Amino acid sequence: MDIDTLFGLEGKVALVTGGATGIGRMAAEGLMRAGATVLIASRKGEACEAVAKELNALGASGKAVGFAGDVGTEEGVDALIASVKERTDKLDILMNNAGITWGAPLGQFPFAAWGKVMDVNVAGLFDLTQKLLPMLKASGTVDDPARVVNVGSVMGEREMGDGAYSYAASKAAVIHMSKILAKELAGDAITVNALAPGPFVSRMTAFATHDEETRSKVGDDVPIGRVGRDEDIAGCMLFLCGRGGAYITGAVVPVSGGINVMSGPNIFEQALH
Ligand SMILES: NC(=O)c1ccc[n+]([C@@H]2O[C@H](COP(=O)([O-])OP(=O)(O)OC[C@H]3O[C@@H](n4cnc5c(N)ncnc54)[C@H](OP(=O)(O)O)[C@@H]3O)[C@@H](O)[C@H]2O)c1
Repeated sequence: MDIDTLFGLEGKVALVTGGATGIGRMAAEGLMRAGATVLIASRKGEACEAVAKELNALGASGKAVGFAGDVGTEEGVDALIASVKERTDKLDILMNNAGITWGAPLGQFPFAAWGKVMDVNVAGLFDLTQKLLPMLKASGTVDDPARVVNVGSVMGEREMGDGAYSYAASKAAVIHMSKILAKELAGDAITVNALAPGPFVSRMTAFATHDEETRSKVGDDVPIGRVGRDEDIAGCMLFLCGRGGAYITGAVVPVSGGINVMSGPNIFEQALH
């Protein structure tokens, strides 16, 4: 057994949607430091190019390439795939990370907040994956499958609406869809797993993680006592995408500091104290 190569990604090509910010960027850096060529795509192509430049300046063994790509429409997905094919003829890893949210109180949650969120978080994720299957199938082998990692959320597993009703439902859909695809694609040497992150600092969570004080307050509500860090995402990605994760599919990785196992008070607590 070669321990050094368990988490190495030398020679692999990865696509990370939404890879210029937040969790996508954390993943992109981890994949790149492990030796992969990482394609980063989101609506803001210039931001992706700028982040790829920053990542390439780290002196890591891999490479980053940034360009525009929109997973919110069918035309966007098709254009993104064309852009991917212009840059690579093989794809080993697909991280479906792009996501949006919408928050409003119950009773005022707008109808429009469903379609927009579902289009990006669920339909775009599914359509991109479906249309990249030929490339993923071509790269996967029984010993070293191609990898799909979908970014769900702990909010898709636990009953936490937080005013983000369509978001939480979309993330439950991502988790369920990941399991269905894992089942259907195992025979094609493609693993499909999901991350179910808790709070990480990002643009999406900036309203509650924009400075040390707010981050620390959010961290106090996490059983492990802090918000997530870059290494927490990078570690999951290298585990799922390296040799170490080759036999794992249909998993939901609870990278949420224990929020996934929070529950109400113990049943007899009140009676005994
Ligand atoms: N941060 C957390 O606490 C947390 C927790 C659980 C799950 N998540 C999930 O993690 C993923 C990343 O979110 P984040 O928290 O890192 O927030 P973020 O910084 O806002 O990242 C979201 C990314 O998605 C991209 N994106 C949005 N719409 C897109 C579209 N139509 N096509 C392509 N890219 C699009 C954005 O880039 P452009 O604006 O350039 O398109 C952005 O880079 C999301 O799926 C989110 O639901 C986050």
